[in-house]
Amino acid sequence: MIRVAILISGSGSNMEALVRSMTGDHPARPVLVLSNVPAAGGLAKAEALDVPVHTVDHRKYPRDRRTFEVELRRNVENMQSDLICLAGFMRILTADFIAGYEGRILNIHPSLLPKYRGLDTHARALAAGDAEHGCTVHEVTADLDDGPILGQARLPIEPGDTPESLAARLLPLEHRLYPAVLRRVADGNREPLYL
Ligand code: GAR
Repeated sequence: MIRVAILISGSGSNMEALVRSMTGDHPARPVLVLSNVPAAGGLAKAEALDVPVHTVDHRKYPRDRRTFEVELRRNVENMQSDLICLAGFMRILTADFIAGYEGRILNIHPSLLPKYRGLDTHARALAAGDAEHGCTVHEVTADLDDGPILGQARLPIEPGDTPESLAARLLPLEHRLYPAVLRRVADGNREPLYL
């Protein structure tokens, strides 16, 4: 059984989709939901789903990313996690942390990578006049939002779309894509999946 730790910072809707997918003959199970934000709405959702939760508040480690990551790692190791899924986790991990989990950290990013790494992806797609937008699940490497692509889902941008309307239409696609990619990775298949 593949043990999955899910890292969140916010509402945790992708986390919920991942947790709900890991049942039956799925080769993975969630063992930890960890948030760097004590007030993250996803923590209560994870508790309701009977997944162990933990908080490592990054604000307790000002200017000390290393100690923050030592705490992250301790929690992930405590639960003997094999795979880490970043699901709306809004801290940048250092190359040192990532090196300890080579090929074992996945992330979902709300753009069609390699377009729009970083923040404000919906606004940037609109400002560029793009005809379509989407989300990407990728392997995490030391370069931000740049690892091998494991899956993408796309949607057309409509006249009158705003960053908010795009985000709202994209989220359900994220909830389909991320579990589908996790299942493939858990089965040993890293061929990109295009929805
Ligand atoms: C999702 O849209 C995810 O793609 C994005 O944050 C949101 C989290 O929502 N992630 C990033 O921007 C990562 N840089 P959720 O907490 O409801 O899953």
